[in-house]
Amino acid sequence: MKTITLTQPDDWHVHLRDGLALQRTVPDLAQQFSRAICMPNLVPPVKTVTEAEAYRSRIIQHVPKGNAFDPCMVLYFTDHTSPDEILKIKNSEHVNAIKLYPAGATTNSDNGVSDITKVYHVIEKLEEYQIPLLLHGEVTHAHIDIFDREKRFLDDVLAPLLKTFPKLKMVLEHITTADAAEFVLDQGQNVGATITPQHLLFNRNDMLVGGIKPHFYCLPILKRQTHQAKLLEVATSGNPKFFLGTDSAPHAQDAKENACGCAGCYSATHAIEFYAQAFDQVGKIERLEGFASHFGADFYGLPRNTAQITLVKEDQIIPESFDYLENQKIIPLYAGKTIQWRKV
Ligand code: NCD
Ligand code: ZN
Repeated sequence: MKTITLTQPDDWHVHLRDGLALQRTVPDLAQQFSRAICMPNLVPPVKTVTEAEAYRSRIIQHVPKGNAFDPCMVLYFTDHTSPDEILKIKNSEHVNAIKLYPAGATTNSDNGVSDITKVYHVIEKLEEYQIPLLLHGEVTHAHIDIFDREKRFLDDVLAPLLKTFPKLKMVLEHITTADAAEFVLDQGQNVGATITPQHLLFNRNDMLVGGIKPHFYCLPILKRQTHQAKLLEVATSGNPKFFLGTDSAPHAQDAKENACGCAGCYSATHAIEFYAQAFDQVGKIERLEGFASHFGADFYGLPRNTAQITLVKEDQIIPESFDYLENQKIIPLYAGKTIQWRKV
């Protein structure tokens, strides 16, 4: 049996939702991670520092006693975000970044930015204060194929953005293509990327061959195997630009197993074990600690954690479901399947 000990990891991209959902999502995440960037795509979205502080206190009420989980907050960029709000982020203790969803790109993104060039005067402040801009990197035009939307975002939106703001601190969230990995490699140290467990462990065949499997459906959508291989290569390379962000995104079973199923995989309960599985599969388990526990904190300019966790190489079965909201279930990523790593 193999055992590894690593600095307690952080999750730099997670959806905890609000209200009753927090009873499930917060304890699940807090038993794995020390800190997390809590995504702001609530209904209505978290648009101001005041709203983020209020959301943070609602999250904290659900942290189990004796657990030191520390939520990091993010504002939701809209067409109306003011430069003054960016100054408030700079002066805020708990708000670390702002998230830009192109309007219509994903779950609860209707209030997102309709045209990024219209908010360049706000992005200017982000660059000046070195506040990270977190990007959902997909274009939304109806005529662009869903599998090409990330690549088109790089070419049409990101390249011009970085030309205009070369020092902008930016995280390309949940990258899914070799193109995105290469784009990030080509930039300076001010550009990072998060990678989810599902994009390291699976590809679109897992979702579509032998029947459509809605619990693998997330956005950006799983791509072909060659992209998965490139993501694994950069995640396990030891390059500090690439770090952990689960994008764990809960939707009740009924909303996933539906004629129009929601996008999002729920990985919060076993996220670090999924990453261990992915790294071990390519013989790079020794690179897990940097990716999971060091590089994200370094990017955000936060201290590394001091607590440690231990993982053992021992089979475990992912539960078929968990209780969620009132009388509902949530189906976790890889439900009912066996993985080889377990957190002790
Ligand atoms: C996320 C959600 O459900 O909030 N869904 C997803 O598929 N990743 C939104 C997002 O991050 O795109
Ligand atoms: Zn997300």
